Amino acid sequence: MNFENKTVALTGAASGFGRAIAEGFSRMGARVWGCDIQPEGLKQISALPGLTTAIVDLSDRKAAAAWIAEVEAQSGGPIDVLVNNAGGSLGTPFQPIDEVEDESWDRLFNVNIHASFVTSRAAAAGMKRNGRGAIINISSGAGLKPSLTGVQGYCASKHALVGLTRQLAVELGPHGIRVNSVAPGLVLTDEAKVRRWEGYTPEKRQAKLAQTALRRLGEAEDIANGVFWLSSDLSKYVTGQVLSIDGGSL
Ligand SMILES: NC(=O)c1ccc[n+]([C@@H]2O[C@H](COP(=O)([O-])OP(=O)(O)OC[C@H]3O[C@@H](n4cnc5c(N)ncnc54)[C@H](O)[C@@H]3O)[C@@H](O)[C@H]2O)c1
Repeated sequence: MNFENKTVALTGAASGFGRAIAEGFSRMGARVWGCDIQPEGLKQISALPGLTTAIVDLSDRKAAAAWIAEVEAQSGGPIDVLVNNAGGSLGTPFQPIDEVEDESWDRLFNVNIHASFVTSRAAAAGMKRNGRGAIINISSGAGLKPSLTGVQGYCASKHALVGLTRQLAVELGPHGIRVNSVAPGLVLTDEAKVRRWEGYTPEKRQAKLAQTALRRLGEAEDIANGVFWLSSDLSKYVTGQVLSIDGGSL
């Protein structure tokens, strides 16, 4: 795959999948604009060829839209590929529904769905003018079924992201813009996820692996590869789809 002269806007670039996606696009010749709220993580990838980083809190809608405008201004035109990757369960512990605070629910929705709505809205106008574009939303297995974490706002916001993907694919398809989602299974991308995984009982961990056809957890690269395919012309007749990359999870 070759992404030379392609403009890629990637959210949540500082760690985990975002970092693997940034590295791969950079390797394949793209000009990548990556944003995150973690300055340290951004600094670690800032030397990648073709990468421009920005510190943006995507739960601030104005800042999220302004970042897209900035990418267009700096790149000199519309965005070719938008990857809405930032998000997650944000360290939210499981709590019974009757104990969940509004603030915890809102925090999850702000980044997992509202930010993707805002960046997609901001990027769509330029993509329409260009008559082409690809939007890839990183949802989750928890966007299709209940989450292992039990965190209601995570599961519900990722289901909403799958809905946004399907709806935008129908709306933007006539403009040559494809909208798809990658739904990853569990990948231990950071210490917090390792701790959460190790906090599960051996039976729960074993059950999870037994319910995974390939009998292992995924790696960031597995997820990034799906994003590259959905961003490239190899998938030029694919839109409105959710690609589960989860080792064949039941
Ligand atoms: N790792 C998994 O097991 C898994 C499984 C399914 C889905 N996902 C999804 O994949 C995506 C990436 O996850 P990851 O595992 O690489 O996690 P991660 O925590 O390593 O990466 C998420 C990035 O988003 C950034 N971010 C969070 N809030 C932000 C905000 N308000 N503004 C800007 N940036 C913000 C974080 O700083 C972080 O760098 C997430 O959307 C997550 O829900 C992950």
